Amino acid sequence: MKKVSLKKVVYLLVIVASSMFIYSFTYQPNLDEWEVPAKYKNMKNPTDKNDKENLSIGKSLYMKHCKSCHGKTGLGDGSKSDELDTDPGDFSTDLAAQKDGALFYKIKEGRDDMPSFKKKIRDDEDIWLIVNFIRTFEE
Ligand code: HEC
Repeated sequence: MKKVSLKKVVYLLVIVASSMFIYSFTYQPNLDEWEVPAKYKNMKNPTDKNDKENLSIGKSLYMKHCKSCHGKTGLGDGSKSDELDTDPGDFSTDLAAQKDGALFYKIKEGRDDMPSFKKKIRDDEDIWLIVNFIRTFEE
């Protein structure tokens, strides 16, 4: 077997180490950035957040369509949550920094394990009512 020179080994190590170094800057764990188009971000929620009846409609839609993954109180601990490849997050802490329009967009379009609801929940108003309801999980 040919003897591998020490110089070559050192070169190789330097290359591996520097590519790991560069990679660590470009790698984004968990695709945290979920880009929301400006059109949605600036959308105004047309519903009344404080209306009791609205909240109860939002709640029943949530329990029907969302609880299995996001859990009864939005902690991401629903019965299906163990089967997911992506973390559904925790609504008690993850929503505060986001605008209603961003949540509306995410529910409508989905991403990865988060289903798109534009076909299942056709009425936009219903999606806004769900947005209002999940905000009640905020701490
Ligand atoms: C099959 C499981 C599943 C169901 C059902 C589901 N979700 Fe999700 N949801 C996810 C996952 C997984 C993510 C994280 C997706 C990602 O980051 O790529 C997510 C993300 C979200 C987000 C974005 C959270 C954030 O921090 O930005 C919102 C809002 C959301 N879901 C609301 C809902 C609502 C409302 C429903 C019901 C109408 C619902 N989800 C139903 C799995 C689910």
